[in-house]
Amino acid sequence: MALFGLSFILLILVSSTLSSEAQLSSTYYDKTCPNALATIRTSIRTAVSRDPRMAASLIRLHFHDCFVQGCDASILLEDSSSITSEQNAGPNKNSVRGYSVIQDAKTQVEKVCPEVVSCADIVAVAARDASVAAAGPSWTVKLGRRDSTTASFNQAENDIPRFRDGLDVLISRFASKGLNAREMVALSGAHTIGQAQCFTFRERLYSNESDIDAGFASMRKGSCPKSGNDSVLAPLDLVTPTLFDNNYFKNLIQKKGLLESDQVLFSGGSTESIVKEYSESSSTFKDDFASAMIKMGDISPLTGSQGQIRKFCSVVN
Ligand code: HEM
Ligand SMILES: *[C@@H]1O[C@H](CO)[C@@H](O)[C@H](O)[C@H]1NC(C)=O
Ligand SMILES: *[C@@H]1O[C@H](CO)[C@@H](O)[C@H](O)[C@H]1NC(C)=O
Repeated sequence: MALFGLSFILLILVSSTLSSEAQLSSTYYDKTCPNALATIRTSIRTAVSRDPRMAASLIRLHFHDCFVQGCDASILLEDSSSITSEQNAGPNKNSVRGYSVIQDAKTQVEKVCPEVVSCADIVAVAARDASVAAAGPSWTVKLGRRDSTTASFNQAENDIPRFRDGLDVLISRFASKGLNAREMVALSGAHTIGQAQCFTFRERLYSNESDIDAGFASMRKGSCPKSGNDSVLAPLDLVTPTLFDNNYFKNLIQKKGLLESDQVLFSGGSTESIVKEYSESSSTFKDDFASAMIKMGDISPLTGSQGQIRKFCSVVN
């Protein structure tokens, strides 16, 4: 009896310690939804095979989710009486893609295990599956995030990095989310795939000519004039635009970064040596990218009884 009492007390101690700092875990759905990951993977593979750019868009979606209130699918909430959607904030509006791909995956997952798997986890898994689909690295996704019941338009405006940010600003923005400069550089390597609109790189083409390869600038000026054509797209990596490789970093060394926030990583500042290292070793880049994505996926998740498991990703229950 005494032994039973003692172990009971121990059990309470242990479980209260655990619940006070609930952790994400890669096995979170093993019992409650063993087919969750396979179901999401099928959905993402299909979406990327229909639209190869979607691989890039889904990786970016996870980033823009995690930098606002943490990885809680807040970015998926649409305008309503109680929500001012992050989707209309500067860095997201007419730019972030993939919302419906996440909802499609959610619909499939709801068929096999209703109200078990969060939209926030689906976003995190989709980013990993998207990387794999673009021949990028894979990693084990930690799970157990819950969905927010709020969004933050203001944080979306203020916390997501901007394409004209200088190096110090970029470093401090990532630092404020617990990511160091090396992780910031590795994560920026996501710009090895995907596209950007003319208005995001126009100033770079027409202003500081000492910081951009002349041939590259004149090529991009061909479809991105001083005014107009604002939404015409250019690949973030001019060499292998749909392949997740380390060419992005080689471009930076040749002054062929598309965004100012890309080139600033190799423009005489403290991150030059990291860019050089990644340009010389694709495997170092991919390993670091994978680790940094895991760390980014850990930004202030809702766990335990916080938040909810949304039924539809775009609205709170
Ligand atoms: C370092 C600060 C960053 C800035 C200033 C930045 C900015 C941008 C901008 C302006 C675009 C083009 C958007 C458009 O024209 O509509 C873009 C695209 C993209 N960004 Fe970033 N980004 C940053 C970091 C990241 C990170 C950390 C990731 C992911 C880990 C990421 C992933 C992407 C991807 C994949 C695309 C292409 C999306 C598509 O084609 O749909 N970016 N980014
Ligand atoms: C222009 O580019 C040069 C070369 O990288 C850099 O040293 C300088 O700070 C840049 N100037 C501005 C105004 O951005
Ligand atoms: C606008 O972009 C298209 C390509 O999408 C290009 O053919 C055209 O020349 C551009 N217009 C200007 C004025 O640069």
